[in-house]
Order: sequence, then structure tokens, then C-alpha cells
Amino acid sequence: FDIQGFQEKLIDWYQNNKRDLPWRKDQDPYKVWVSEIMLQQTQVNTVIPYFQRFMSKYPTLYDLAYADPQEVLKTWEGLGYYSRARNLQNAVREVAESYGGKVPDDPKRLGKLKGIGPYTKGAILSIAFDQVLPAVDGNVMRVLARVLKIEDDIADPKVKKQFERYAEALISHEDPSSFNQGIMELGALVCTPKEPMCMFCPVQEHCRAFQEGRVHELPFKSKA
Ligand code: ADE
Repeated sequence: FDIQGFQEKLIDWYQNNKRDLPWRKDQDPYKVWVSEIMLQQTQVNTVIPYFQRFMSKYPTLYDLAYADPQEVLKTWEGLGYYSRARNLQNAVREVAESYGGKVPDDPKRLGKLKGIGPYTKGAILSIAFDQVLPAVDGNVMRVLARVLKIEDDIADPKVKKQFERYAEALISHEDPSSFNQGIMELGALVCTPKEPMCMFCPVQEHCRAFQEGRVHELPFKSKA
């Protein structure tokens, strides 16, 4: 597999086609963190106005740390999965109290905070700190399953770990942020679950599922 060709095509495409999203304006780790938590179970278009309201209300980590939890929940209202908001505020408080308000750039420390699993950890560290770490969510698993023709059941939690290892092998060391966001963006815009637009795919020539006419069969997922 031509790792370097894949990276170059993906990153070049991302830089020319990325959506202008409010959390992509700077690398503030707090903003990246909030956006990634909101994006976990919620679509980009739904998240945009919530993210903007949230940032007007709580522009810095300290604003959120010292905010009234009921107010925070009200601001979150409509996004659902309210434990996300509670965990986020608890974790932000811990950063304010234990880390002087600086989001830890150490994977072990960051991963211990409430609500930060492997995906969120990789997303924050790669996007805000340019660290070489994978960030594998459902979109990324779909893209990798197709490109690498991985037939394993993506509903199996053990399989996610395997995808993280594949992502580690593929990730660009020069620009891990664009690489991770590029795969996410590709999964959102081109390599979609139904009717993927392979004709517009920047990594078509690297995609084993495309070469073998099996794009529609992958990824494999048991239980509806
Ligand atoms: N989904 C998860 N993280 C994302 C991001 N940073 N940009 C767009 N979609 C995403």
C-alpha cells in the first residue's frame, strides 16, 4: 500500500475542499474539545449554531469551569446526550484546578478526563497540538474499511482497536491534523454510507474496495 501517495492525495484534497466550520478557525484546544464532544453523536449542521452560542456564552475554559451547571445544560438543550455536557464541565473544572487552565497535551493525562475516550483524545491532540495520534470514529472506520478492504465487523469493540492501529500506520507525521480531519471530511462528504461519490474521491486509486467493486459491501456491520 502506497502510504505516502495516500497521505498526499488526502491532505491536498482536504486543504482545498474543507468546509469553513467555526471550530476550524484556530487551534484553541478548548474550542477543539467542545466541538469534538458536540460532534460525537450529532451532525455537523446541527452542531454549528450550538457551538457558536456556546462559545459566545463561554468563550474560555474558565468561563465554562465557573458557569452554573443548569445554565450549561440549558445551552446544551436540543443537542441531546446531556451527560456529555456534565462530563465536559467536570473535566474543564479539573483542567482549571489541576492544570492551571491549560488543556493537558500529555495523552495519558488528557485521556483520564471525564468524557475523553480514545477518539476525542486523538482528535484534540492532533488538531490542537499537531501530535501524531489517530482519531477513529465511525466515519473514519468506514473510509479505512473501504480503502484497506477490511472485512471485520465494525460493531465489534475489539475491531475498533484494530482500526486504530491501521490509522496509526497511515497517519501523516508531517501534518497529522490535516490527515485526521481529511479522513473525517472524506467520510462526511464523499465516502458516505450510501451512494459514495467515488468519482470525486481523491484516494480512489488507493481504494481496494473500489478496485474490486465492493464499496457498497463495506464496512461490514452486524446487528442493525
Ligand atoms: N466530526 C467529528 N469531528 C469533526 C471535525 N473536527 N470536523 C468535522 N466533522 C467532525
